[in-house]
Amino acid sequence: MNKETIYSKENNNIDELAKLVNISTELLTKMMDQAESVKSKSYSPYSKFQVGCCLLTSKGTLVNGTNVENVAYGSTICAERSAIVSSVSNGESSFSLFVVTSNLENFLTPCGACRQCIVEFGPCHIILMNVNRACKLTSIDELLPSKADIAHLKQV
Ligand code: THU
Repeated sequence: MNKETIYSKENNNIDELAKLVNISTELLTKMMDQAESVKSKSYSPYSKFQVGCCLLTSKGTLVNGTNVENVAYGSTICAERSAIVSSVSNGESSFSLFVVTSNLENFLTPCGACRQCIVEFGPCHIILMNVNRACKLTSIDELLPSKADIAHLKQV
């Protein structure tokens, strides 16, 4: 995997990206559509920064999440955690892929808190998609290589 590779319709390599994450091009396109669509539901009156996330569970379910801000800024929940909480609440807590998008031309990467929450249910691929639907591929192992481990709890 070359993490600098840009996958897009224009580059004619969305099929290649789908293969790398072991799903069909149709399913990947659906995830990209849903991440884009849920982004428009963002509640972000303070930052005006809209984020959308679509995750794929290991059973094949798609779950969407967007960022939900609060006047007490620290109570804000990011799009990624919003999708995770929704999926776990519906009984599915094993994930294989996240598609995350914002309105940036750059590639937004999950914040530290979201990385920690993703790794809890990992290992998984993460596709970063920009506002023009160009994608980059990464993984939770790459974004959070040294995770807090359950073994730490067992030592006390
Ligand atoms: N945000 C996300 O939803 N996901 C991220 O990975 C980074 C940041 C949200 C939180 C806040 O509502 C807004 O983006 C600005 O930081």
